Amino acid sequence: MNIQSHYSLKEHNSFGVDANTDWWIAFDSEEDLLSLSKDEFFASLSFVVIGEGTNLLFIDDYHGAVLSSQISSIEEGEREGAFQYVRAGSGIVWDDFVADMLQRGFYGIENLSAIPGTVGASAVQNIGAYGAEVSQIISAVETVDLHNGEKHTFTHEECAFAYRKSLFKQPEMASHVVTHVTYRLSREPQLNLSYAALKQTFEGKNPTPLEVRQAVRSIRSAKLPDHHEYPNAGSFFMNPVVEAALAETMLKAYPEMPHYPAKDGVKLSAAWLIDQSGLKGIRHGAVGTWPKQPLVIVNYEQASGREIADFAQFVVDTVKKKFAITLHPEVRYIQ
Ligand code: EPU
Repeated sequence: MNIQSHYSLKEHNSFGVDANTDWWIAFDSEEDLLSLSKDEFFASLSFVVIGEGTNLLFIDDYHGAVLSSQISSIEEGEREGAFQYVRAGSGIVWDDFVADMLQRGFYGIENLSAIPGTVGASAVQNIGAYGAEVSQIISAVETVDLHNGEKHTFTHEECAFAYRKSLFKQPEMASHVVTHVTYRLSREPQLNLSYAALKQTFEGKNPTPLEVRQAVRSIRSAKLPDHHEYPNAGSFFMNPVVEAALAETMLKAYPEMPHYPAKDGVKLSAAWLIDQSGLKGIRHGAVGTWPKQPLVIVNYEQASGREIADFAQFVVDTVKKKFAITLHPEVRYIQ
């Protein structure tokens, strides 16, 4: 375990915000978490767990402890027909894990290529892209509760996955730190080419999962800025789900509006709403929306977390004025 005081978080958040934390704790094992849970000084601090920091915004310096998983084991578990279970440490970089699985011939993960973040964050956030959601392949999530050091294993059902949501995002789970995630992959390719851009790319072809990974990588990089060059945290807002009646009214005024069926209503496109509100590619000083995908907010010139949050609020207010729809951040605010 590596513990540092007065530590800069600049390299630990993809917005490149120059914030500090009172304590930085990089833990290597469940035992490290158990010893932290028994430590009186640590128990007195507030804490937050981060992965690669690619989906969060530090509003100010953090007064407490920022924890980061370094657990990086990969264990091949049971085989069940064509299915292969794999248990992975929460600190593994997500895309390294995807590449590793494909190399082993374990499939069903290729559409989620190139998403920034870690294995632990994949479960907390229920990452999704190009017609897939990680919840479709998660069979169990293990945590340690820092309040008492107890280990827990949650089944797929208990994880309560929904669009960009899971049990682990609920406030009462804040003391649980994800240590391992078990995935159920397939030893036989089972391609999901439902996303329009993938369907087009492979029209009349029979691609390998590795080719799907390559296609996803290039579709992604054509639309989304690389955070090493243009600091950002991917989609800043979630796509809003509205009541069917509201979607119908809007479709009368905007027949071309993208809309998708959702569990409890109709899912609209936040990118489209922002675009139609005249906010595509705009800039307020150091912060702006990405010209090719306005759902992404970019920190162009070393803005503070607060400046980024203010700009995001401006986007929310402007969209609300035009469409009476409130966008909610997908990015997690930490203060
Ligand atoms: N659109 C516009 N104007 C634009 C850009 C897009 O109107 O300038 C419209 C497009 O016409 C399209 C719609 O917005 O109909 C949706 O765009 P896109 O397919 O790019 O997907 P998204 O809904 O904006 C979601 C995820 C992304 C994921 C993509 C691809 C969320 C919040 N975002 O974006 O995830 O990569 O689908 O599956 O669900 C992330 O979560 O950080 C992320 C990047």
